[in-house]
Amino acid sequence: MPKIPAAVEDFRELARQRLPRFLFDYIDGGATEEQTLKANEEAWKQVHPRQRVLRNVEDTSTNTTLLGESCSLPVVCAPVGLAGMMATRGEVQGIKAANQVQVPFTLSTVGICTLEEVNSAATTPCWFQLYMIRDRERIEKLLQKAWNSGSRTLVFTVDLPLPGMRHRDTRNGLEATGFAGALVKASQIISRPGWIYRVALKGQPLTFGNLSDAVPNGKDLDAFKAWVDSQFDPSVTWEDIAWIRERWQGKLILKGILDAEDAQKTVEVGADGIVVSNHGGRQLDGVHASAEQLPSIVKAVNGRLTVLVDGGIRNGVDVFRALALGADGVMVGRPWIYAVAAKGEAGLVQLLESWQKEFRLAMMLAGVTRVEDIGREHLAELKN
Ligand SMILES: Cc1cc2nc3c(=O)[nH]c(=O)nc-3n(C[C@H](O)[C@H](O)[C@H](O)COP(=O)(O)O)c2cc1C
Repeated sequence: MPKIPAAVEDFRELARQRLPRFLFDYIDGGATEEQTLKANEEAWKQVHPRQRVLRNVEDTSTNTTLLGESCSLPVVCAPVGLAGMMATRGEVQGIKAANQVQVPFTLSTVGICTLEEVNSAATTPCWFQLYMIRDRERIEKLLQKAWNSGSRTLVFTVDLPLPGMRHRDTRNGLEATGFAGALVKASQIISRPGWIYRVALKGQPLTFGNLSDAVPNGKDLDAFKAWVDSQFDPSVTWEDIAWIRERWQGKLILKGILDAEDAQKTVEVGADGIVVSNHGGRQLDGVHASAEQLPSIVKAVNGRLTVLVDGGIRNGVDVFRALALGADGVMVGRPWIYAVAAKGEAGLVQLLESWQKEFRLAMMLAGVTRVEDIGREHLAELKN
C-alpha cells in the first residue's frame, strides 16, 4: 500500500482498512451480480480521447458553470446516504472540501448531518437530494427546510422505487434487525477501534439528520432504515414531478434517467437538468453502463437542459470522456466517500485537485482550451 494516496484505488484501500466491513461493503457494492457496477467503469475505457499536438494550449482553463454555479471543474459530489457513518460528520467534511476546490456538493435525503449543519459549515450551500416519501407534507417541509437553509438546487432521484438487491448488505447483517444482524455488525465493529473512536464516539449524533423528527426512536439506525424503506413511494409518476416543480422555485434536476424516451419527458416537465445514472449499479443489475446510454440521451434532449452523468467515473480523463460524449458535467459517488473515509476533508481536496490536473492535461493533449468546446471531435473512435 503506498504511503501517499494518489488515485481513487488508493483511497478505496485506505477506506477498506478503516471501516467496519458492513460499511465498506455498503459503499463498494452493487446490486445482484454487480454486473452494471463493473460495466460502468469499463465502459469509459472504451472511449478514446484523440491526441492532438502543437496547438498552443498554454491558456487552458477547467473552469465552467453548472446550473448557474461557477465550478473549477465540471464535477459534482453525488448524494451518498449515510456518509456521516464513514467519517466524523462526513457530510460536513465533504462539503468543506468541495467548497475549497469549488465544486458543488449534494446532500442525500438519508445523510447523517442536517441541511442546517452542512450549509452553516459551507461557503456555497449544498444541492439537496430528495427521494419521494409517501408523506407529502413531509416532502413540503423538507423543501422548505432546504430553501431556508440556503440550498437552491434540488436533485430529485427517480430510480429508487425500492432499494436494489444488494447481497453484500444482506450478508453483513445490514438488512437484518434483531440479534443475528447485531452480532455480525458488532464483530466487524470491534475490529476497527479507530472507527469506534472517530465516528461512533466523536461523530454523534448518528441519526438521519433531515428525517430525525420523523421516527420516534431517533437514535436507532435500524428503526430509521425500516421507516425509510416503508416510506419510499413506488407510486410516483410524472405528475408528481409536476407537483414538485410547482413547489420548488430553484433549479430542479432529475437523477436516474437512463433512457432517451424518459429524457425527452424530463424536458416536458420543466426540469433544468438530469443525471444520466443507474445509481452506480446499485439498482437494476444488467442495465447498460451510463457511458453507453449517454450519447442517445444527449441527442434526445438536444441542448434543452443540463446533462450530468455518473457511474464509474474514476479520474480526470473519465471526466474528459464524459464531456466529449456530450455531458455538461459529471457526478461522482464512491470516489468522494472513499476519500473522506480514508483521509477526511484533506483527502477529498487532494483527490479533486488531482482530478483537476488530470482533466486539464487531457484537455491540453486533446488540443482544447475551454470546457465548453470539448466535443465529439476530441474522440478518436466513435463507438455510438
Ligand atoms: C454508498 C452510496 C450511497 C448512495 N446514496 C444515494 C442517495 O442517498 N441518493 C441518491 O440519489 N443516490 C445515492 N447513491 C448513488 C450516487 O448518488 C451515484 O449515483 C453513484 O454513486 C454514481 O456512481 P459511482 O459511485 O460509480 O460514482 C449512493 C451511492 C453510494 C455508493
